[in-house]
Amino acid sequence: MGDGMNIARLKPWDEGCPSINGPDICGASAGKPFFYAVPATGQRPMEFEAEGLPEGLSIKASSGYIEGSALKEGEFDILLRAKNVHGKAEREFRVSIGRGPALTPPMGWNSWNAWRMWVDDSKIRQAADALTGKGLAARGYTFVNIDSCWQGPRGGRLNSIQPNSKFPDMKSLSDYVHSRGLKIGIYSSPWTAPFGCHKGDPSRYWGGPDLIGCSSGDPDPDYPFKAGQGMYIGINKHEACDVAQWVEWEMDYLKYDWTPNDPVSLERMGRLLKESPRDFIMSICLEARIENAVAFKRWAHMWRGIPDTRDNWPSVVKNAFLSDDWFNEDWRPYSGPGGWHDLDMLALGPQFETKDKSRPNRLTKNEQVACMTAWALYPSPLLLSCDLEAVDDFEMSLFGNEEVIAINQDRLGRPACRLKEERFQPVSSGRPVRNSRVWAKELADGSFALGLFNLSDRTSEISVDLRELGIDGSLRARNAWEKRDLERTGHVFSLQVEPHGAQLVKITV
Ligand code: GLA
Repeated sequence: MGDGMNIARLKPWDEGCPSINGPDICGASAGKPFFYAVPATGQRPMEFEAEGLPEGLSIKASSGYIEGSALKEGEFDILLRAKNVHGKAEREFRVSIGRGPALTPPMGWNSWNAWRMWVDDSKIRQAADALTGKGLAARGYTFVNIDSCWQGPRGGRLNSIQPNSKFPDMKSLSDYVHSRGLKIGIYSSPWTAPFGCHKGDPSRYWGGPDLIGCSSGDPDPDYPFKAGQGMYIGINKHEACDVAQWVEWEMDYLKYDWTPNDPVSLERMGRLLKESPRDFIMSICLEARIENAVAFKRWAHMWRGIPDTRDNWPSVVKNAFLSDDWFNEDWRPYSGPGGWHDLDMLALGPQFETKDKSRPNRLTKNEQVACMTAWALYPSPLLLSCDLEAVDDFEMSLFGNEEVIAINQDRLGRPACRLKEERFQPVSSGRPVRNSRVWAKELADGSFALGLFNLSDRTSEISVDLRELGIDGSLRARNAWEKRDLERTGHVFSLQVEPHGAQLVKITV
């Protein structure tokens, strides 16, 4: 053991036998463009096949891209096959037409924590190249999302928000990302001016114009919700123009950011996206409130109520665990296939420092493992947001562990349940001596994933009586981070967990 535990180091993604990774279900709407690049590791060239695809879809043998437009709604159980010189792989897979996208938590990358206001065309292309070239796409990371600071003035044929000078040609950028087998996302806000960079803001040195959002003009007197920080919803609404533009650019994802996330603005944008000729994932942030949960589930695919997650331990603990104490638990009935409660981007990997330079992550390795474990199990969307070029071997192993990703992407989509919480802080000491959590997530094949988290500053033995999960017969236990079967010793399952660390175990009955 040691900081970072024994997490299995990732093998080169483009060597050896084929292995099909990622979710085992993909959803879309009938009659809209469908695209799914089968994530697979193994030596190229590889030949792909899909048996039983719905009418309208076909797979490209050389790339594994499933494309077309499904004619009818329905659930289609298909068989994916991949073969190369070393051998072959098969996987049962479901194409679900009619329930829309995000049937498992979206996975990908977002520009904000890596590049902030300095995001530009080449950094997005670089991210697409890194996701594919480093084998993260081959493990399920799909979206390349442009966060705030792409915006220029409103205009053009559609009277839509035009990109600023850092993005000379959005359609060509989108084509580039798609040509890599990935999907692309954009960012906006119902406010007149979104978060990111504002007039008079001392950080407005990147040379771009003032950022604008989907509304303009004076504050809308009918808007019933108070916005903070001088931001407001304007009387002129331009959402329809902007959606038409994003359809033309062939965007796949919108991050819609304002606070609080009022259901009126949510529905206005959500309806336009759903009625558009493309499937869009709609991610909303910030300050999603539980009283609007039904509206989020109806119109959005993911929503965030908590502040940005940063690469420091208190921030990770607050967003993953303290929130759990006061409200994350309330979201459990709403989070699941098609709509996910979001813990924010993963604050892992090299983070923003200056225009073209990232700095190393400030979490210890144990803390990074605990963060990834919590996000995987919660389950939260897995959006990396770091300088992908600068990730090291440990970080690659953290992001790309196929067994951990499979727990997050499980098609049942069941949120983890808090099984056990232990806190002991003697009066004599200012710090907790024991502070652990155990989460359990039920998986589609009847097995369970257990997360053992040690939030204290000392190594702790964390144990669970598996009978609490109703498990009473023989079982198999496998450490997902180490990719190793564990010795079993009765019903009380016990593991040592390092300070600020976590273990993730799959229990199969
Ligand atoms: C807010 C969001 C962040 C990011 C920035 C962009 O702070 O919470 O995720 O999108 O805006 O300015």
